[in-house]
Amino acid sequence: MHLIVYTSTYTHSEKAAQDDLLDICRAANSFNPTREIAGTLFFHQGRFLQALEGTRENLEELMARIEKDPRHRDIVRIIDEPIEKRSFVDWRLDAFNVSDDIQLDPELLENFKITFLGQGPLEGRVFVDLLKKFCANPTLRAALVSC
Ligand SMILES: Cc1cc2nc3c(=O)[nH]c(=O)nc-3n(C[C@H](O)[C@H](O)[C@H](O)COP(=O)(O)O)c2cc1C
Repeated sequence: MHLIVYTSTYTHSEKAAQDDLLDICRAANSFNPTREIAGTLFFHQGRFLQALEGTRENLEELMARIEKDPRHRDIVRIIDEPIEKRSFVDWRLDAFNVSDDIQLDPELLENFKITFLGQGPLEGRVFVDLLKKFCANPTLRAALVSC
């Protein structure tokens, strides 16, 4: 099993983000289950952060599609390493649109920003544990894009 986490820069205006996230989410929910790829996607202040777990071969196939996508650029893999087992169990991609309207408590916001900058704890398991905490956070769950 393998883990890839990358950040990238959104190329459209922030106003279009919700629609793009919906579209991405739909594409992911039809493709990722066929390759048993699980993960999560956050959008915040014009940046994406996505974590993906699966076999290395399947992840590289998906990354080749994602890297061609004109909706983002400057894709930087901040984690790319083997893992013992999955942390994300659902094939559905949870996508979060963390706009500035979302009021996060200061500690969570600080953690979130650090994570987003890719300057957090870069050991894969620790990083994914942090992302899982975000996914479970009630305030952040309000930012979930339903598709
Ligand atoms: C930030 C970002 C994350 C994406 N994540 C996924 C994903 O997890 N799974 C997926 O199938 N497509 C994902 N996409 C969409 C793909 O880039 C692509 O548009 C989609 O797979 C449809 O490809 P096709 O037009 O070649 O069929 C993502 C796109 C972006 C911009």
